[in-house]
Amino acid sequence: QVLDISWFTESMREGRPVTVESRHHIQVRDFDALEVLAESSEFNENEGRCLAFRRAASVLKSLPSAVRSLGATQGLPCLGEHTEAVIEEILQFGRCFKVEEIQCDERYQALKLFTSVFGVGPKTAEKWYRRGLRSFKEILNEPAIQLNKMQRAGFLYYRDISKTVSKAEAQALRCIIEETVHWIMPDAILALTGGFRRGKEYGHDVDFLVTTPELGREEGLLLHVIDRLQDQGILLYCEHQGTTFDATKLPSCNFEAMDHFEKCFLIVRLYEDQVEGGLQRNPGDSRAWRAIRVDLVVPPVDRYATALLGWTGSRQFVRDLRRFARKERRMLFDNHALYDKTKKMFLSTTTEEDIFVHLGLEYVEPWQRNA
Ligand code: CTP
Ligand code: MN
Ligand code: MN
Ligand code: MN
Repeated sequence: QVLDISWFTESMREGRPVTVESRHHIQVRDFDALEVLAESSEFNENEGRCLAFRRAASVLKSLPSAVRSLGATQGLPCLGEHTEAVIEEILQFGRCFKVEEIQCDERYQALKLFTSVFGVGPKTAEKWYRRGLRSFKEILNEPAIQLNKMQRAGFLYYRDISKTVSKAEAQALRCIIEETVHWIMPDAILALTGGFRRGKEYGHDVDFLVTTPELGREEGLLLHVIDRLQDQGILLYCEHQGTTFDATKLPSCNFEAMDHFEKCFLIVRLYEDQVEGGLQRNPGDSRAWRAIRVDLVVPPVDRYATALLGWTGSRQFVRDLRRFARKERRMLFDNHALYDKTKKMFLSTTTEEDIFVHLGLEYVEPWQRNA
């Protein structure tokens, strides 16, 4: 069976970003294989190959149905020879030898386990692996290992925060954050971003943008919100980063660079009776609450649109869109601004729609940005 992919290649010809709607009938096994390869490349610091596998996975995800023959992938962009070989093997044997080899690899297993802890990146994971450490128990029993505050929270709440967050739990958190923000400033603007804004049923955290109708009034708001959450006794962990935003700087070309807005990474306590239908629980866990990761970001209101686009994601969608802007439109954008290199000027944006208009693209709804 050969797929009809004409609708797809047409939009890709121009190098437009891949758009994927949140649907439930896509076959996931093939993306999992590519994700293992991407992750393993990341651990081996092969960033280019890692991105190539992730891009290939998102192209496959965007297909209207599962790939059933190699012919079906003919003419698709972004599928390199490595990916083609993996797909061919899976189609022929139902499995991929290289992927299975990686999954059995001791280093891959250890690095995957360690980086699953909040606050532990590939560098720390590698350091622990080189010391001969292989399990959480070994790490926590090693006196020479000094965990920072974030990593301590990561281990302390590991069971809860490695569990998915449901839509109902995200809604409940939205109510809590909304009430807190509006208690302090009734006309503050709050938006749910990240995967939940894209309509996902589950996430690994809950992301919010907070701003104020007038520029400058956002100063001090976040610290006040943090204080108030603390007073409510629901703040389990907080890392606050002040703003380093500089309005004169051109948008960054480096996608991995963090934005400069004031923000905080939190772990918040959510009670059973706050969630419609109750909490998601681990077996045998009878606590009346669970811990959830929350990100709050505070852009100044004139940067709200670019910040909203960036924090809505997906990571891959925004990466593709930025590449499209640079290559096809000679424009740079990041979470802070949109800049036209031909006109040598910043383009003002009030809404996400403005950004798509400036880029000469049709508007892409958040639920179509799941690439
Ligand atoms: N993001 C960002 N700067 C950061 C962290 C995240 O711009 N320092 C963006 C990411 O690129 C992503 C979005 O914010 O597009 C949300 O990030 P994240 O919560 O990690 O991912 P989600 O898409 O929400 O998925 P998940 O369900 O795993 O949380
Ligand atoms: Mn998220
Ligand atoms: Mn994530
Ligand atoms: Mn997040």
